[in-house]
Amino acid sequence: MAKGIVIYYSRSGNTKEMAEIITKSMNEAGLSTDCESVEQVKANDLLKYDAIVVGSPTYYGHMAGPIKQLFDDIVGFHGKLDGKVGAAFSSSANIGGGNETTIMGIIEAMLIAGMVIHGDPRGDHYGPVSINKPDDRVKRQCRRRGQRIAELTKKLR
Ligand SMILES: Cc1cc2nc3c(=O)[nH]c(=O)nc-3n(C[C@H](O)[C@H](O)[C@H](O)COP(=O)(O)O)c2cc1C
Repeated sequence: MAKGIVIYYSRSGNTKEMAEIITKSMNEAGLSTDCESVEQVKANDLLKYDAIVVGSPTYYGHMAGPIKQLFDDIVGFHGKLDGKVGAAFSSSANIGGGNETTIMGIIEAMLIAGMVIHGDPRGDHYGPVSINKPDDRVKRQCRRRGQRIAELTKKLR
């Protein structure tokens, strides 16, 4: 059976809240999905998942250090994530504060790993973005993204 994981780093809870909504939506859409803080995940844990969703607060327009470390650690099995579904999301403090560049940084790493990324022509195009704590708009985007990731993953399997 296909499986997904949502991995996040969060100091003040905003990214974690997005992660929990996306996870719930993926499960409701029929893809069994775990939700883990990046501190609980080892790089080779990723091998057992078909969809890997990564969320980071925006730190100076980029992913936070622990998320970057996770990507650096996958070099030990480079190529083995080829064909898995990837997605990203981010919380920042400001509009124009770099949340989309953060998402694109995560997506770039996923593309180098060979992962499949699904854009969204109507919702948040690159992945859900929040200004601090998720409001109702962001929660809708997280639910929508979770559903789309689950549907794509099931289709590819
Ligand atoms: C080291 C550091 C760097 C940050 N850099 C940015 C930034 O470049 N742009 C921005 O809008 N917010 C920035 N922030 C704010 C966080 O992205 C924002 O508070 C986010 O909602 C925190 O998510 P969390 O609650 O999941 O930890 C920064 C915060 C920290 C601690």
